[in-house]
Amino acid sequence: MTKIPDLGLGTWQNTNSEECTDAVKTALNMGYKHIDTAQAYDNEEHVGKGLEEADVDRDDYFLASKVWISNLSREDVVTTTEESLEKLGVDSVDLMYIHWPSGQYDPETTFEGFQQLVEEDKIKNIGISNFTPAQVDEAMEIAGEHIIANQVEMHPLLQQEELLEKCREHDITLVAYSPLARGKVFDIPELQEIAEKHDASEAQVSLAWLMQKDGVVAIPKATSEQHIRDNFEAQELELEEEDIEKIESIDREERLVDPGFAPW
Ligand SMILES: NC(=O)c1ccc[n+]([C@@H]2O[C@H](COP(=O)([O-])OP(=O)(O)OC[C@H]3O[C@@H](n4cnc5c(N)ncnc54)[C@H](OP(=O)(O)O)[C@@H]3O)[C@@H](O)[C@H]2O)c1
Repeated sequence: MTKIPDLGLGTWQNTNSEECTDAVKTALNMGYKHIDTAQAYDNEEHVGKGLEEADVDRDDYFLASKVWISNLSREDVVTTTEESLEKLGVDSVDLMYIHWPSGQYDPETTFEGFQQLVEEDKIKNIGISNFTPAQVDEAMEIAGEHIIANQVEMHPLLQQEELLEKCREHDITLVAYSPLARGKVFDIPELQEIAEKHDASEAQVSLAWLMQKDGVVAIPKATSEQHIRDNFEAQELELEEEDIEKIESIDREERLVDPGFAPW
């Protein structure tokens, strides 16, 4: 099974060409091994420029993108992924996700397109994103051989115990999106206390909590070098059992990303 690097750079809403290119380049030069983009972010070209300008080889990082919901017919999965590769300037991505199980998503035909791309070596693995536990089961039955991840919202305000259990049952990785609760982590008193104790930032506490969990990786979005570095250094923070218990006692189901067509 392909191992997905624990920390990735998110790029949603980073549509300014220069800022996006710089963020990707800065992250890769700093040692990030995982970059996350999507057709819908309208920045694959800027990400591609960052990949090209960084002082690293293609083998040094794990690259993921996502097929948008209007492109999920068998044929469009193939043609739009080829367009994504062109924009990114690479021969293949390590992971191509179904962005949401919505729009043109049809379990049988959508996965046929993805499987063709695997056979043609244009994508190394298949990802699913925003799938409920029941949808994960269905997807695994159809294309389990190549599916390695479910990317979903997860942070201290939305702890996703059931989905994590489901991912572990199928031996796939949970890729945690919005891992900083889109900036809300800074306002959580429990995180403030833990951050102070370790002389760390609340962002680092949230990321360390996620990355210390078996089968979870995190993809914080950051634009400035300072934020990119702060998140990178979260890999060195080791939370203690009592810190983890404190975070897990935060009992709030606060979902921040809901486009209206979501399965919940
Ligand atoms: N599959 C999906 O449907 C889906 C949905 C949502 C997100 N995602 C992916 O997950 C990634 C991350 O999620 P997200 O963008 O929603 O939110 P996030 O990573 O939880 O938070 C990003 C925000 O936190 C700020 N930030 C980052 N590091 C910081 C630090 N160390 N200190 C202070 N502020 C910091 C960023 O500011 P700056 O940018 O100014 O640095 C930005 O405003 C996305 O970019 C995308 O790649 C996927």
